[in-house]
Amino acid sequence: MVVKRNVSLKKYNTFGVDTFTDNFVELSDVNQFTQLFSILAGGKGPILVLGGGSNILFTHNRIRGYVVKNNLRGISVIKESDDYVLVKAMAGEDWSDFVYYCVSNNWGGIENLTMIPGNVGTSPMQNIGAYGVELKDSFICLEAWEISTGKTHTFFYDDCAFGYRDSYFKQEGKGRFIIVSVTFKLTSKNHFINTSYGTVNEELTLKRISKVGISEVMDAINSIRLRKLPDPAKIGNAGSFFKNPVLKTEDYQILFKQWPELPVYPISVGIIKTAAGWLIERAGWKGFRDGDVGVHKNQALVIVNYGNATGAQLLALAKKIQDSVFQKFGILLEPEVNLI
Ligand code: FAD
Ligand code: EPU
Repeated sequence: MVVKRNVSLKKYNTFGVDTFTDNFVELSDVNQFTQLFSILAGGKGPILVLGGGSNILFTHNRIRGYVVKNNLRGISVIKESDDYVLVKAMAGEDWSDFVYYCVSNNWGGIENLTMIPGNVGTSPMQNIGAYGVELKDSFICLEAWEISTGKTHTFFYDDCAFGYRDSYFKQEGKGRFIIVSVTFKLTSKNHFINTSYGTVNEELTLKRISKVGISEVMDAINSIRLRKLPDPAKIGNAGSFFKNPVLKTEDYQILFKQWPELPVYPISVGIIKTAAGWLIERAGWKGFRDGDVGVHKNQALVIVNYGNATGAQLLALAKKIQDSVFQKFGILLEPEVNLI
């Protein structure tokens, strides 16, 4: 394991922000953990674990301490029955490739999570979600290496405190672990086909598909995502910059009187979720551009770097959007992106 000094992280984050780290190590084998433990000295200095860098904004010119890039690879079937399969994927596997691999093997459950950038190991961090499905729906367990002790622990569903774009690893467990692998329970027949979200059904009709399987769902969602979201390889971004606000029904009803078109998604009794993209668009930001920072023309929830924007410039735009949405609607948007 080689420790590289003064490394640019530009190619390691999908915003394409150019930040340097003091020390950079790549983890590609679980046998390197002993060495990593002595390098990191039990986590006494700052450590940042990096997956695909697709949910991160570097807000400073330098990352102090160590950046550990997770490159652990491998996919294995743990158990197979007539109806389902338990699949374990190492943290450094690319999430989108993993979804494609599962669908190609006729394993169902994560096809709606297609084309989400990043790594398998990061997927439980914010309980990734899209098109009516969340990671937690197929999650069995994960292994995580504790930085302060060098011990590996297994976390089952109940240990992970999954919520909307949230988990134990963004709360009490934040910064304490390196997720090593994730195990999923996927259907191998009698798949549950979920086309309830947004325009998925319309897309299938448009494609004239009548017999809908997991592969068709994946393809339909790929088409929608390609239309709506900017490709980070072409325009720097980290997907939705803010979370969708969760409101009490009574607060929503007050807003509804003034904004009857405000989108509403029921969550539980007395709780709804609304659409940050709608609020940002109505606050006038959609398609906004100032130099290299901007708001995507097709999705107001996506802040973009058109070239050489700094993290500080992107953060300043996010703050302006947050302030203007708060002034107009009285709702404080919470960042989804991890601000470093
Ligand atoms: P990183 O950005 O590398 O890391 C994110 C956080 O996790 C950081 O705090 C990091 O320190 C920590 N971390 C990373 N790996 C580990 C590990 N192994 N152990 C411990 N901590 C770790 N998200 C959705 O939920 N739904 C979407 O539909 C969606 N669409 C997107 C579309 C685009 C175009 C983009 C750019 C992003 C989108 N995202 C979406 C956000 C992002 O892809 C996900 O959050 C993804 O899971 C991040 O993975 P990553 O490996 O890139 O994480
Ligand atoms: N909307 C607008 N204007 C916009 C964008 C959206 O009015 O510019 C409205 C839409 O018309 C729709 C509603 O907002 O009524 C929801 O829009 P959309 O279906 O595009 O989804 P979203 O709420 O903006 C969320 C996730 C995405 C995920 C999609 C699909 C969050 C923060 N974002 O976006 O996740 O892919 O749903 O499930 O929950 C991410 O987390 O990075 C991400 C991209």
